[in-house]
Amino acid sequence: MTSKTTAIIDTDPGIDDAIAILYALRHPDLDIAAMTTVAGNIGLKVTTTNALRIATLAGVPTPVHSGAAAPLGRDPRPEIGIHGNDGLGGVTFPDPATGPASSYAVPYMVDALMTAPEKTIDLFCLAPLTNIATLMTMAPEALPRARRIIAMGGAVDEPGNMGRGEFNLAHDPEAAAMVLHAGLDLTLIPLDATRQFRAGADFLADLRATGKAAAVASADLIDAYFVQTEHQARGSVSRPLHDPCVPLFALHPDLFRIETRHLEVDHDGALIEGPHPIQVAMGVDADALRARLCEGLAC
Ligand code: RIB
Ligand code: CA
Repeated sequence: MTSKTTAIIDTDPGIDDAIAILYALRHPDLDIAAMTTVAGNIGLKVTTTNALRIATLAGVPTPVHSGAAAPLGRDPRPEIGIHGNDGLGGVTFPDPATGPASSYAVPYMVDALMTAPEKTIDLFCLAPLTNIATLMTMAPEALPRARRIIAMGGAVDEPGNMGRGEFNLAHDPEAAAMVLHAGLDLTLIPLDATRQFRAGADFLADLRATGKAAAVASADLIDAYFVQTEHQARGSVSRPLHDPCVPLFALHPDLFRIETRHLEVDHDGALIEGPHPIQVAMGVDADALRARLCEGLAC
């Protein structure tokens, strides 16, 4: 009998966030207590509405608490070129069945972590770490009560995708440094791993063949990735699935190769050599992950 993993998803949906959320909400071994949203890929109003739309399509009513509208110390830099003006690549999602549960994501997280028994809630971080860093400042005693933090972010040996860094860390370097330098039970899943986990035509066909709404919507979302000119220009025949790696790692850690690297987040949000030992995923079993993702989306 597998015990369920309880988690809060912090997210900026976002095409790849949406696939991760569809997988996590419907998976029988996960209990998603809530989603907290942050501006990142697109503005906070859109990411919050999208989280609600995704939960509606999944048919899993899930509280959504909106959080930070901007990084700690700089202006937001949305990625409309990748995720589109609606943040979901123009893919049709239903109108939200409900509105946000609150606009106080961080007080919600504090309450959840302080109320639940210690070490029983995971944090799945799919976005810039602004909410998480704010939580550390607001209630330093709360975050250590989390069982673990799994965060998609960074680029260790790989080139970045936002200047020298990767989007989730570079969008809010101050927040990323606070979280990654705190010595928490944190596993970072950087571009070094996520760029190995790619979706091509065969995988899209597998998703569509399931006939399940979450899987078909995910295929539509991945197709939307291909619409981006910069990827067509490069003749990309596959797209990396960044954020789905987070819930997949939670359930299938054996499909990831984890190394300890001594790193720090610099002022640009790039990962450089430093004094902080961080568990980072540097390899994946991509075929097995695609099979697990397809199974999960077809639940
Ligand atoms: O670099 C990839 C990350 O940035 C993903 O979380 C994607 O959704 C964007 O937020
Ligand atoms: Ca994201």
